[in-house]
Amino acid sequence: MRSGATRLTVRDTVMASEDVLERSVDDAATSSSFRHFRVRHFHLELRVDFERRQLQGREVLELSCVRSEGGGQELRLDTHPSVSFHSVSVQSGDREGQLQPLCHKIQPFTSYGCTLVLTLPRPCQTGDQLQVVIDYTATDGPGVVWLDPEQTAGKVKPYLFTQGQAVLNRSFFPCFDTPAVKSTYSASIKVPKGFTAVMSATDWDHDEKENIFHFKMQHPIPSYLVALAVGDIVSAEVGPRSRVWTEPSLLEAAKEEYDGVIEDFLKVGEKLFGPYVWGRYDLLFMPPSFPFGGMENPCLTFVTPCLLAGDRSLADVIIHEISHSWFGNLVTNANWGDFWLNEGFTMYAQRRISTELYGVAYTCLEAATGRALLRQHMDNTGEDHPLNKLKVKIEPGIDPDDTYNETPYEKGYCFVSYLAHLVGDQDKFDAFLRAYVDRFKFQSIVAEDTLDFYLSYFPELKEKNIEKIPGFEFDCWLNTPGWPPYLPDLSSGDTLMKPAENLANLWLAADLNMDPIKAIDMSSWKTYQIVYFLDKLLEKSPLPQGHTAKLAEMYPKISKAKNAELRFRWVQIVIKNHYEDAFDELQNFLHSQGKQKYTVPVYRAMWSKSEKTRKLAQEIFAATEKQLHKNVQNYVKKIFV
Ligand code: BES
Ligand code: ZN
Repeated sequence: MRSGATRLTVRDTVMASEDVLERSVDDAATSSSFRHFRVRHFHLELRVDFERRQLQGREVLELSCVRSEGGGQELRLDTHPSVSFHSVSVQSGDREGQLQPLCHKIQPFTSYGCTLVLTLPRPCQTGDQLQVVIDYTATDGPGVVWLDPEQTAGKVKPYLFTQGQAVLNRSFFPCFDTPAVKSTYSASIKVPKGFTAVMSATDWDHDEKENIFHFKMQHPIPSYLVALAVGDIVSAEVGPRSRVWTEPSLLEAAKEEYDGVIEDFLKVGEKLFGPYVWGRYDLLFMPPSFPFGGMENPCLTFVTPCLLAGDRSLADVIIHEISHSWFGNLVTNANWGDFWLNEGFTMYAQRRISTELYGVAYTCLEAATGRALLRQHMDNTGEDHPLNKLKVKIEPGIDPDDTYNETPYEKGYCFVSYLAHLVGDQDKFDAFLRAYVDRFKFQSIVAEDTLDFYLSYFPELKEKNIEKIPGFEFDCWLNTPGWPPYLPDLSSGDTLMKPAENLANLWLAADLNMDPIKAIDMSSWKTYQIVYFLDKLLEKSPLPQGHTAKLAEMYPKISKAKNAELRFRWVQIVIKNHYEDAFDELQNFLHSQGKQKYTVPVYRAMWSKSEKTRKLAQEIFAATEKQLHKNVQNYVKKIFV
């Protein structure tokens, strides 16, 4: 049994969730009755059936009625057509433990889910407590991903994982699938012999005889952070509160890459943002089709195996996910329109940790590559696209995942940097971040809560009407699309960026002069310097005729790279320059992994280049479609129209 961190009292939990109800939160992406009922706790008891691709079992929800007007007799839970229901019953406080069967019906909601509607025997009054028991089967919905053995590293056993963010967990278990509310959960997962189950939970236990894994999450979390993976999974210790979990064949590589460093990241995080409350911080290296770089499931971040670069060069992703332990997992956006509260603050926190550990030059370099992604995104969409503001209105029917882009990350980072700039003193701003986490931990909030708290924390700024400086109005940051009005100064990164920029300029000349190019030695460059160099070339591609071939020949470190960030840039250069000699490498890259942020832009570039690249895109997609996450499949299909 693993021990957890400080236990939250019931009273704390109740207060936390009452707090959030003060500001009426809207979430168009849920049809649940989260305003009428509170989930105090839920338990999942599931059997994993790989043959049928089914999770079968029972969910028990402990509920309190928090508002009776306009909905006390109907309990609505988010679910998905891929889930089927066998029976539902309720036990209310008054009937001495008797379970009463309930009628249930399914109502359509959106393309990404439907509603389980339960009619209670009688209207609930505020304060009533009830227990609802649901026997159900989850199949292969968008949040429940079943992989064939061939899609795993080991190729022998199948694999199952769930991915909740943003609104996918409704296909895993019926729930109030909104980040506006939080609850504790527990689970008992029975798996076939030879399989291991892991979850985003503080307490773990294993009944070896029955092969049932028991989990408990002691802290209240939103539904999207509940996560499960089952497969041939083993682990190794890499720190006093950290293990890496992988398929056996990747264990050594994972251990080597992260042994010792995770604790450094956590310690700096704690120094900057306050206690790490989640007890353990483990990493699960996923099969290659995992659609994200990382997913901050509490206690157990899920990451792409692409991070096993062999040189620790992609640790920023881990630092990012660790930063969510405070921003996102403790203080949570109350709806997906305020996603920047999760990601913008996390980018800021990630770069604070990075500055402490690797210095300001390196961190500015990494931030500059982030800014380049924002530039690309805004160039593609047009700056005044409605998604290019921090507060997004998610209209009914729109899947929040379809609004995903760089703005909440990088414009969000600029806004948090601007808030720090107004304060003018890093220590004071760090202290504010600690106070902010402490004030809103275990709660869900909107941008207005953050900014009100900021202004009350810094009354001297409030007095100066700092939120209304023309051109930099807080309201403008939140509600006007466009390039950030304030950009943090990244010139401390010049020592690392200038050499990369100079080399790029040499390669961009119409007449290549190889002597000065050969004089520049890239062997000691950091991965992000090469990324920066490649971004510059990408921006200006197509390059003059013949340059790409020379580039490939000159830098095997790039054209034969194993590092996914480098391959991602290189194959885009290959496409934009129609460099057919490297189309094999392009194909290999798309076969080797299924990360959304790589896969979608690469297909987009192929689709817009030539007949030949279009045809190749269709061929590769036909061969790899099944390996991709359903959302990623759909995004690629949308490109092909
Ligand atoms: N929480 C996100 C991943 C996510 C976002 C999943 C929205 C589903 C919907 C995670 O923290 C993230 O941002 N990952 C990045 C890491 C990067 C910014 C360092 C990724 O996967 O690329
Ligand atoms: Zn993130």
